[in-house]
Amino acid sequence: METSCRICSGPVKASIDLGDQPRGNAFPKSGELTDEFFYRLLVGMCDSCAMVQLMADIPQEVRYHDQYPYRASNSSVHSAHFTGVARRLMATELTGHDPFIVEIGCNDGVMLATIADSGVRHLGVEPSQEVAALARSKGIRILSRFFDEETASDIRAEHGPADAIFGANVIAHISHLDSVLKGVRTLLGPDGVFVFEEPYLGAVVEQTAFDLLYDEHSFVFSVSSIHAAARLFGLELVDAEPLAIHGGSMRYTLAQRGARPPAPAVADLLATERAQRLDQHATLEEFARRAERVRDDLTTLLRELRADGKRVAGYGAPAKITTVTNYCGIGTDLIPYVCDSTPAKQDRVVAGSHIPVVPPSVFLEDRPDYAVLFAWNHAEEIMAKESGFTGRWIVYVPEVRII
Ligand code: TMP
Ligand code: ZN
Repeated sequence: METSCRICSGPVKASIDLGDQPRGNAFPKSGELTDEFFYRLLVGMCDSCAMVQLMADIPQEVRYHDQYPYRASNSSVHSAHFTGVARRLMATELTGHDPFIVEIGCNDGVMLATIADSGVRHLGVEPSQEVAALARSKGIRILSRFFDEETASDIRAEHGPADAIFGANVIAHISHLDSVLKGVRTLLGPDGVFVFEEPYLGAVVEQTAFDLLYDEHSFVFSVSSIHAAARLFGLELVDAEPLAIHGGSMRYTLAQRGARPPAPAVADLLATERAQRLDQHATLEEFARRAERVRDDLTTLLRELRADGKRVAGYGAPAKITTVTNYCGIGTDLIPYVCDSTPAKQDRVVAGSHIPVVPPSVFLEDRPDYAVLFAWNHAEEIMAKESGFTGRWIVYVPEVRII
């Protein structure tokens, strides 16, 4: 299968096939399983700009419904991270007279709360009503819309140019990224910056983190592809900084072209990516073969444990669990339930695989022999919280292991 690139219209060939998948964050109620939406999860790379992207087109409105269950503030590690981001932006970028910051997809306000508390002019652009209401309750000013070219020019007309535009774990979600970049060019002041943090292709490939591929992740960015995309829209990549968050992310800083000299990290990371062949189809094809091995190892292990009469549960129901369980064919026969601290996910099931999501208290009482850690990017926090767990943890990133 071949499609055309969402950024530059170049040819995109499918290199990874994770089968028929439902929406990662659908979490239907068990009474609502008849009309589940499925699409083919194919991922490819553009021949021209090296952008790694989902081949299927899933409408935004289908994905970010009003009950979008993700709550960015649920993890204390992430909350601390975003407080740090806010402080740093205030210290480095929001220093002029009456500065203005816009956050694209501010979720429950985990970052903007610190900005709002400091009295800095801000606007959170958040189309999901429930999380937007949470952000509003923290005193954050919200515009309930999708960010695109039109939204950007409306914001500029009402508030003036932005000194900073921020986005975390949202920019790679937006399939109309071309319109977002046009909007950034419109809204950003002459010396403004667009800073965004997203899961990094290098980390995804290195860890065989195939579960980071799901409907919401329209793209997996690399320094090479963002460097190319920025140029196409009159912007420039002026800095890139690797982050440990979400299992390996990158923070990109874009500016108006020519406004700031690029930091040495940009050229360094571009050279590293070339050496790692991150811009080659063959790299994705090898990744797909490693994902097959993880699938086979994980299902073999779970079947053996079942045959031995061991009790296995799942821990954490991130959107990633949908990809893993559906790709591997893991259902309630192998994992009868998964616990998650998010109330909006509880009393629901994982889409497609129909594994029930229960509160962590069930896990505490049930004392299973093994727990598959689906929220592997929060391993430290979860293992510390569950230090009383006497069973063993099963992880599958970067390979299947019992710890
Ligand atoms: P994320 O990987 O997209 O951040 O999602 C992590 C999921 O794991 C989210 O649904 C909340 C859940 N979780 C717990 O259940 N317990 C925890 O201690 C943490 C940190 C996360
Ligand atoms: Zn392209």
